[in-house]
Amino acid sequence: MIRYFSDKQLFILETQSSTYAFALNDHDAPMSVYYGAKLFSPEDLELIGADKMDGYRFREYTKMFKYRHEYSTYERGVYDEEALKIRYSDGVSDVDLVYDCHEIKGNTLLLTLKDEVYSLKVVLTYEVFENFDMIKRYATIINNGNKLSIEKCLSATFYLPNGNYISNTFAGNWAKEFTKVTTEITEGKVVYETRRGVTSGPHFVPFVSITDKQNPATENRGSVYFASLAYSGNFKTVLEKNHAGTVKIAMGINDFDTVFSLDKNESFTTPDVYIGYVDGGYNKMSEKLYDLQFDYLCPRGNIDKPFPIIYNSWYPYLFDVNEEKLLALIPKIKEIGAELFVIDDGWFTNRVDDRRALGDWQACKKRFPNGLGIISDKAHEAGLLFGLWVEPEMINEDSELYALHPDWVLKYETRPMSKMRTQMVLDITKPEVYEFCKNMLDRVITEYKLDYLKWDMNRYIAETGKDSDFFVKYTQALWGLYKHIRYTYPTLLIENCAHGGARSDYGMMPYSDRINRSDNSDPVDVLKLHEGFSTYILPRYAGGAGNVATSPNGQNGRVTPLKFRAHLGMTGSMSVGFDLLTAKKEDIEGIKEYIKYYKTIRPMLHSSYLYRLSSVLDNGVAVWQYTARDRSKAVVFIFAHGVRWGEGLDNIKLVGLKPHARYEINGKTYSGDTLMKYGHNIRKPGGDYYSEIIEVTEIK
Ligand code: GLA
Repeated sequence: MIRYFSDKQLFILETQSSTYAFALNDHDAPMSVYYGAKLFSPEDLELIGADKMDGYRFREYTKMFKYRHEYSTYERGVYDEEALKIRYSDGVSDVDLVYDCHEIKGNTLLLTLKDEVYSLKVVLTYEVFENFDMIKRYATIINNGNKLSIEKCLSATFYLPNGNYISNTFAGNWAKEFTKVTTEITEGKVVYETRRGVTSGPHFVPFVSITDKQNPATENRGSVYFASLAYSGNFKTVLEKNHAGTVKIAMGINDFDTVFSLDKNESFTTPDVYIGYVDGGYNKMSEKLYDLQFDYLCPRGNIDKPFPIIYNSWYPYLFDVNEEKLLALIPKIKEIGAELFVIDDGWFTNRVDDRRALGDWQACKKRFPNGLGIISDKAHEAGLLFGLWVEPEMINEDSELYALHPDWVLKYETRPMSKMRTQMVLDITKPEVYEFCKNMLDRVITEYKLDYLKWDMNRYIAETGKDSDFFVKYTQALWGLYKHIRYTYPTLLIENCAHGGARSDYGMMPYSDRINRSDNSDPVDVLKLHEGFSTYILPRYAGGAGNVATSPNGQNGRVTPLKFRAHLGMTGSMSVGFDLLTAKKEDIEGIKEYIKYYKTIRPMLHSSYLYRLSSVLDNGVAVWQYTARDRSKAVVFIFAHGVRWGEGLDNIKLVGLKPHARYEINGKTYSGDTLMKYGHNIRKPGGDYYSEIIEVTEIK
């Protein structure tokens, strides 16, 4: 709900658990008043002290450091992280925004601010999602005056009550994504960002949660603020505490190497940022974030159905794929019960390793004399879905495309080209390159009758110097291509992949049905990866070339039992990635049984909340409770590795059940209340590669 109290010029935005308030000060500038636990009488709120600001008009510099501008700008006397920095045509780089008008349309507030001297308006949009306990914010900058430069334009700034806080986000590297990073917000700034052109790099992700330092939240208790930026390019998260104790969070497009200009009557809209507050710990936060994805962000239609079980050629065969082998695989894939056959890298002309051929998207005649159509047809005849890997944004120097269009590549004529994985980036901001990529995608999707597309991206972006707003334009072009295929082929399943999980952001959610969480398929590492990934992304999105992969594992050589790999594979979007042509009979029989069982619980797993009951990072035991959104069923996965004798759990307290309902576990019944307060006794998990699944079903 949104309310406006005209006597105090006070705006109140309310969700189920939070109140967010700001008011206009004496100078008509909107200043933050409060954000936190829901207030019974928010109309009591008022601006006080510096924010009210007597001295504002007169630039009383000694007080200005206390300012909590709703959308802070770079202006004289304000030195904290700003959301907006503009250089006007006369050289003035100072934006002084005051109230112009506002409009409340249902759950959306449009607050228009203006710079009274220059013809600039800024519209701040607040969309309140009551049930998700979130507010979506973005800003639109409208220039009605002379050409100006935008040197920085974040989506939002917001403030926490003065205090001491700690923040959590995820960082990592290729194959080691989503490692939890906990930092205290002390005086100064904590900055998480990427400058690499891909959202997460995957070194940081555009998601952060914040809790009180003295009274920190746990998984099931305590208050948590959080923010997630829906952007698929360079982002910046700034957590700042200034010397007056003001705590500000700023999030948006990174201003690194980015300046863009607005001509008269042009405007720019920032990406959306979702900010939220819950009281109920990190599990509650994840639940709200899942709701946002289930009911708002994810592609309608596809999200209501379980994701098919993939068999992917990458881990077992890498680039060594050909017609004979792939045709021989089809009955095997069918036999184990997988549903979608994916040919990964290696299917196109000359692509025998990762040093050549990107850009030449024609099936290799030598290895596929009859084209890929025959494989697609045979897969379909066998009742399988069929999918393909592409990497549209990239090119190798050793390719026909490069020979034809050396000017399509990001490079500096005076410098050697930067190459990563021996490849370069196509400049998709050029209309002819964009068209090439679009046509290529249309052609492969229709010619090979694709049901699924894996869109990969295996390097960072560099040599962007030709346009000072290149990074922003690149992301817009990327989204344009994704939008085209999403809307032209609405039932096509799309997996977004960027050298593992480097595009795990909310900007990609409307276009993705699955995300390559990581290229690391070692189950012991995955226990940690999945906990981080699923904190802010739906567990059903946890993809990858094979989460039931080969043993010994391709990344680290670890030998693990099939049961452990298969159970873990069920916790995300299952994909099988071991060689079915040479597999031992017992492994074929084994995976068949696991898949058969998985299919019985998958509809619920793919539409559920995941509560973290125990973290492998704390005690070597991961306990994950997947819970149907209507709370009529739960499936609890227990994984243990490297547990010392005498350690580990023998009782687990479930969460999120209906207290008055009765649930059945292994033939015995319990009330939801007992299972949540007393818990459920389990066999102590121990040793290595231990896994168990417990089903909890409401008796109706
Ligand atoms: C990237 C992806 C992998 C695989 C390879 C193919 O590394 O993350 O899953 O598709 O490319 O080259």
